[in-house]
Amino acid sequence: MFGKVVLFIYLISFNVFRCAADWFDTQKVENLVKQWSPLIWLAPDEKYMPLDVEQFLENVDIADENAKIISQSRQLSRFHSKRYNSKKSYLVPSVPLDDLKTNSSSFLYGKSPKLSPTVPVYAVITYCNHFSKGNVAKSGFNKTKSPLPYFHVSYWMFYPYNEGKDVCFIGKWPTPLIFSKCFGRYKKMGNHVGDWEHMTLLFSGKEYPEKLYLSLHDLGAYYTYEKATNTFKFESRLKKEKLAHLSTTKEFPEYVRLQGGHPVLFAAEGSHGLWAAPGEHEFVRIPSIRDKNGYGTPWKTWASIKFHHSGRSAPLPWMRFKGRWGSPKSNCVLSRKFGLCELTDGPRGLLRDDQDFYC
Ligand SMILES: *[C@@H]1O[C@H](CO)[C@@H](O)[C@H](O)[C@H]1NC(C)=O
Ligand SMILES: *[C@@H]1O[C@H](CO)[C@@H](O)[C@H](O)[C@H]1NC(C)=O
Repeated sequence: MFGKVVLFIYLISFNVFRCAADWFDTQKVENLVKQWSPLIWLAPDEKYMPLDVEQFLENVDIADENAKIISQSRQLSRFHSKRYNSKKSYLVPSVPLDDLKTNSSSFLYGKSPKLSPTVPVYAVITYCNHFSKGNVAKSGFNKTKSPLPYFHVSYWMFYPYNEGKDVCFIGKWPTPLIFSKCFGRYKKMGNHVGDWEHMTLLFSGKEYPEKLYLSLHDLGAYYTYEKATNTFKFESRLKKEKLAHLSTTKEFPEYVRLQGGHPVLFAAEGSHGLWAAPGEHEFVRIPSIRDKNGYGTPWKTWASIKFHHSGRSAPLPWMRFKGRWGSPKSNCVLSRKFGLCELTDGPRGLLRDDQDFYC
């Protein structure tokens, strides 16, 4: 008897919560996501533009760690299969990289959002089922008056290629600069096929976001929205393990400004890391690694957004891909495992376990 009552109460409360969760309209959330989507300035000398993921997939195959092709990724249904969809899978261009680089109309160079405004950003929305009791009590279950939900949204941008950084070499060996001069020749190291970058906003039941997160290589910065000044102010930084041993600098720009209500960001030349201000930013002091940003091509991301409501809509087949979005590393100095590589592993996809905000 007691069990039945508990079950009954459980079922009722489950339904109430389910109602509460579906209670606001998805359209309202999508409007907010669009309204706050970033204006991204690509760097003046940027060669590697963003691209629609579907177009990238038409030009790559699924390979193993040794770059041996195991399937054509054009068959998206393959992403459901364990054999092709493991953490050890890679996506390698069907044409050799050097041929793609010498062909300025190849997919590797992406598309300028100025000429192709349909290059999308992918908005992954994660709902937090917090509904402040006050709101529920005040408006009851009245859809037209429903409060806004708590959620975070990551805006993901995809670029087919990431150009690494210049490293000075003498013969086969990387060499430090001597009086800021390279006495050998520069070579770009740390390039990779496939590049995912993102910015995340946290909304806490209001018409404006509470916080903004900028992802920067293996670093990240949190900003807090200030309604009075209509800007996001720097709050703290996140340093991921990979860079923990390097001396990273603290100098993140203090504000993310808004233009026409959109956060204004600057994507670094070649590597596409997102910064809040134009100019040169040193993010690792030794060895000196800098990002260069400026007013090159504006990317109005609100022109084309593909939404994914996490846990509410089925992800697109490619979103399920667990492998790397690029070729496996090659041409490494020292060992493949620890070395500095000319071509490094592609990044992981956009549905990740680690989140920028937790509910
Ligand atoms: C360059 O790339 C375009 C687009 O993929 C392709 O149609 C063309 O044949 C390529 N040109 C050469 C010389 O490979
Ligand atoms: C819901 O709210 C709207 C707007 O305040 C109001 O016009 C409407 O009558 C309400 N509906 C119910 C069922 O209370």
